[in-house]
Amino acid sequence: MRITREDVVSQLLAGASDRPVESADVYAPANIALCKYWGKRCSELNLPVTGSLSLSLGSYGSHLRMSRMTEATTDRVTHNGVALSADTAFVRTLTAYLDLFRAGAYFNIETRNTIPTAAGFASSASGFAAAVRGLDTLMGWALSPQALSSLARLGSGSACRSVYDGLVEWDVGSSEDGMDSFATPLRDQWPDLRIGLLVLTDKTKPIGSRQAMQHTVDTSPLYRAWPETVASDLATIKAAITERSFERLGQAVEGNAMAMHSTMFAARPSVIYWTPETVATITRVRQLRDEGLMVYCTMDAGPNVKLLFLHASQEAIEAAFPDVVVTNAYNGDV
Ligand code: DP6
Repeated sequence: MRITREDVVSQLLAGASDRPVESADVYAPANIALCKYWGKRCSELNLPVTGSLSLSLGSYGSHLRMSRMTEATTDRVTHNGVALSADTAFVRTLTAYLDLFRAGAYFNIETRNTIPTAAGFASSASGFAAAVRGLDTLMGWALSPQALSSLARLGSGSACRSVYDGLVEWDVGSSEDGMDSFATPLRDQWPDLRIGLLVLTDKTKPIGSRQAMQHTVDTSPLYRAWPETVASDLATIKAAITERSFERLGQAVEGNAMAMHSTMFAARPSVIYWTPETVATITRVRQLRDEGLMVYCTMDAGPNVKLLFLHASQEAIEAAFPDVVVTNAYNGDV
């Protein structure tokens, strides 16, 4: 029997409290995968083919205010102060997600992103994680982080990692209903890690990540090698974090992103997110490394490049990339 999102939601909310409040004001950070989630074994529940591991972006993410509207006939969504039309991709996915929880009511949602929204950083991960936090507060469910992570996954896979700060691992799980596929923070954290965001273009992407992911799984002959690549990269990344070996970490992180993009290049027709600026930036990162600066890069389903480096290299990175936005997963808390 096919398991639906409704089935999973009723399981997760079974033990929840019920103390609704007037409105909720919440926040969730965006995250960048160091070992990528790329491919689903079940698209209804966003269950992944492999595990993945990310670093959250601290104060770069989504603020969300949420309340219920009794008289309304649709949800109202405002993003960075602008009302979003019901036919934008984000509102459609969000509304379909809220259908799982509305119990007759519609929602008024105001979101504000602190992450550069221009190109590909308008993160669905922080948006859905914030929506789940908002629902939890508004309905007074008081759910565990594990349940919040599972609910966020139903909105967007990578959102299950945005429920936490720092280094976070999403377990692949094996059960059909996905109850064992949620994220948890790593025991070993590394407060000196930094991610630098480079906005290289503000053009919209040729194809969304959800569609590109499925198309790659369906048509790329290289996808067969992906689960094995991830198994090895995940093990290396976790060992490198424990050992505090930045070079080992960076090599695995960069290699994992290159392997993911290789699966896309080989899809038929191929998916190419890279622009000339992407390639120039990757080349520059290598050149800086040759000159002795420890910096590595990663790319998601888009043209922008994210830099991985240690706090001690921040000044040199800012000198080499004057427009870089440096994020700190820990915001000085760890
Ligand atoms: C390349 O989480 O956006 O950023 O589950 O379909 O919503 P859906 O996909 P999404 O995919 C993220 C893909 C990625 C890699 C990652 O974040 O791990």
